[in-house]
Amino acid sequence: MRLFDVYPIHDIAIDRALGSTVWDDKGTKYLDMYGGHAVISIGHTHPHYVRRITDQLSRFGFYSNSVRIPVQEELAALLGRVSGRNDYQLFLCNSGAEANENALKLASFHTGRSRVVAFRRAFHGRTSLAVAATDNPAIVAPVNRTENITFLPFNDTQALEDCFREQGDSIAAVIIEGIQGVGGIHVADDGFLQRIRQLCDRHGALYVADAVQCGYGRSGRFFAHDFAGVDADIYSVAKGMGNGFPIGGILIAPHIRPRHGMLGTTFGGNPLACAAALAVLEVMESEDLMQNAEHMGRLLMDGIRSLKTMQDVRGRGLMIGFDPPAHMKDLRKNLLARQHVFTGEAKPAVVRLLPSLALTEADARRFLQALRTEAEAFPPVPQTPNP
Ligand SMILES: Cc1ncc(COP(=O)(O)O)c(C=O)c1O
Repeated sequence: MRLFDVYPIHDIAIDRALGSTVWDDKGTKYLDMYGGHAVISIGHTHPHYVRRITDQLSRFGFYSNSVRIPVQEELAALLGRVSGRNDYQLFLCNSGAEANENALKLASFHTGRSRVVAFRRAFHGRTSLAVAATDNPAIVAPVNRTENITFLPFNDTQALEDCFREQGDSIAAVIIEGIQGVGGIHVADDGFLQRIRQLCDRHGALYVADAVQCGYGRSGRFFAHDFAGVDADIYSVAKGMGNGFPIGGILIAPHIRPRHGMLGTTFGGNPLACAAALAVLEVMESEDLMQNAEHMGRLLMDGIRSLKTMQDVRGRGLMIGFDPPAHMKDLRKNLLARQHVFTGEAKPAVVRLLPSLALTEADARRFLQALRTEAEAFPPVPQTPNP
């Protein structure tokens, strides 16, 4: 059997990894400024993480959600404290798409309504409702198409107000990334998130914060949405939550009441995933990783801006995007092939940096040096003389 060929891949096979370094099967060493798509939060193969999962596995690996699983309760308590959401409730699942699927479904159950407001360039996952709320028709199958989603321009307060005026009483949820990731690193304005909060309150809709990519400390705060100073009704999390072990979840405000059977999953909240997620939060606290993300983010953004050639350097913490000029379209390819540095991309030509929150200053400076070297290797664009 062959693999179903849906991923455009680099011909590199990773053999081992530590911190922000990965080695391929030929022994070549790479700097990981991509974090396996914002997933590696505390660094590859962190010893505490390895120990926590191994210990859990040696006791028991799985039982279903038909019994009490104390490690889930331990995770909920620690996540509540670290995220500053002690009074929220946690539902555990396995991925970001599943988290958003459950968030929107719960909003619909809670309000009895079916309209979802989403935004241009949004990415919320590939399952049915999550993909319908994703602004990319190429990945929406005919069966996923629905009239229930209204797309609005991002950060456009007037359009938001108009939408609530016209359809407010049918809106179940507004779903928004605090920083759009796949869409190219676009930060939601604080005032825009505050307005979403007010309008949702006024019209009885739920504010759903998709924190799958921008959450879990990546922005320097636990949720990138926190910069706006207002709470969401539901936060969806995944990616960095398990540092590579598949786990996702939704944090649910206390006013939303559960009922048996409302949501459910076989694998969600399995003990191995919970052990991984506990290790992540423990390391985030003991190594002060949110503060590190903020510091390293500033160092990287200042360094990239100082090159002068990269346009619109943007983001927060260790979620950074910039646009190389058109003649440097091979920049990412060259960074990987010649400097052995992994970076991420977003359409049309955005370079995305999503490294581990434990990125060291030495690794950040190594990246800046590699970027400078590759940027300077492009021949200068001939200036057209003024007529
Ligand atoms: C903001 C956001 N939401 C949801 C998802 C979907 O997560 P997953 O791939 O784990 O289903 C992603 C994945 O990139 C994402 O960036």
